[in-house]
Amino acid sequence: MAAVAAPHAIEVRGLRKSYWVREGGLLRGRRRRIEALRGVSFTVGWGEVYGLLGPNGAGKTTTVKIIATLLEPDEGDALVAGYSSVREPLEVRERIGVMLSVERGFFWKLTARENLKYFGLLYGLDGRELEERIEELLELTGLKRLGAENRRFEDMSLGMRARLGLARALLRDPPVLILDEPTLGLDPPSARMVRSILRKLASRGKAVLLTTHNMFEAEIVCDRVGIISRGRVIAEGSPGELKARVSDRVPVVLHVRASPTEAEALAQRIGGAVSRLTERDGGLLYVRVLADPESAERIIQRAIEEALRLGVRVAEARIEEPTLEDVFIALTGASEEGGGGG
Ligand SMILES: Nc1ncnc2c1ncn2[C@@H]1O[C@H](COP(=O)(O)OP(=O)(O)OP(=O)(O)O)[C@@H](O)[C@H]1O
Ligand SMILES: [Mg+2]
Repeated sequence: MAAVAAPHAIEVRGLRKSYWVREGGLLRGRRRRIEALRGVSFTVGWGEVYGLLGPNGAGKTTTVKIIATLLEPDEGDALVAGYSSVREPLEVRERIGVMLSVERGFFWKLTARENLKYFGLLYGLDGRELEERIEELLELTGLKRLGAENRRFEDMSLGMRARLGLARALLRDPPVLILDEPTLGLDPPSARMVRSILRKLASRGKAVLLTTHNMFEAEIVCDRVGIISRGRVIAEGSPGELKARVSDRVPVVLHVRASPTEAEALAQRIGGAVSRLTERDGGLLYVRVLADPESAERIIQRAIEEALRLGVRVAEARIEEPTLEDVFIALTGASEEGGGGG
């Protein structure tokens, strides 16, 4: 699609949105106001994949719903290709492809192909053009390769449904794509396929806005990332720029053969600032400490000494590159739970 004169594909300006929720029982319940968005602003350029990264309840879905004209903000506006989501929703809708939660709005008894045909007709496509577009999208999303094009929606796997959701969002070949957690719950091949399609679309000049709480995904697929926490974008930049912000803290990682209690004890003795402790295959535990670059090697040394004392075997110890997750933790002081929007 040519004729995209607006300087930004998406321009979000000072979005605010509150919800009223009832707390407590039906009779004694009190109404409480939740400020879901407290002034969200960012822009997405043409040819760019922009990721809104944030924990549960941060305001990601609320933001994309407003941009996609599905929800009105209390304040602020979102421009898509120069059109206002608040004042010109029809203009906006013509220019966006939207993929919210995967299962929305498909006909369970219709096949993948029939569903696409239905939505194509609804969008004003028909005849040869529609048939060709559907074939193209069944190909692109791998539904054909999976032999799923004639499968009923109700019999499709989550991965197939996600691919179909993406195909539907692309039916009109929109210049702007908006996706809320497009890879949530997908297996690695499906997630990889979705990500590679998003990269391909951006390379053709389209703008892609996606939300995720998956740091790994944000790192590999996004040109720029906005970190959203409690209704505000608290940091923005390319993954590299954001990681450079925490270069004063490098992760020291130890793989140890130990019980969780022993590993905890070890972690505590080497400084306490453990960000993660997860089970690994083969009974290995993963202890991660953030250190300033000068003391990183000393921490490894000390960890090995302390491990000896505790009778814990260290299988591997190394200094790693910071990840977006480290940025996130450094900025919000919270891991991926948190949020709550209050
Ligand atoms: N319809 C609603 N009614 C009341 N509160 C809502 C509603 N939708 C969202 N909220 C609240 O607004 C805040 C932001 O929610 P939102 O769904 O935008 O977050 P999110 O970043 O998409 O989270 P998640 O990662 O869980 O999808 C949360 O506190 C949520 O509980
Ligand atoms: Mg959400």
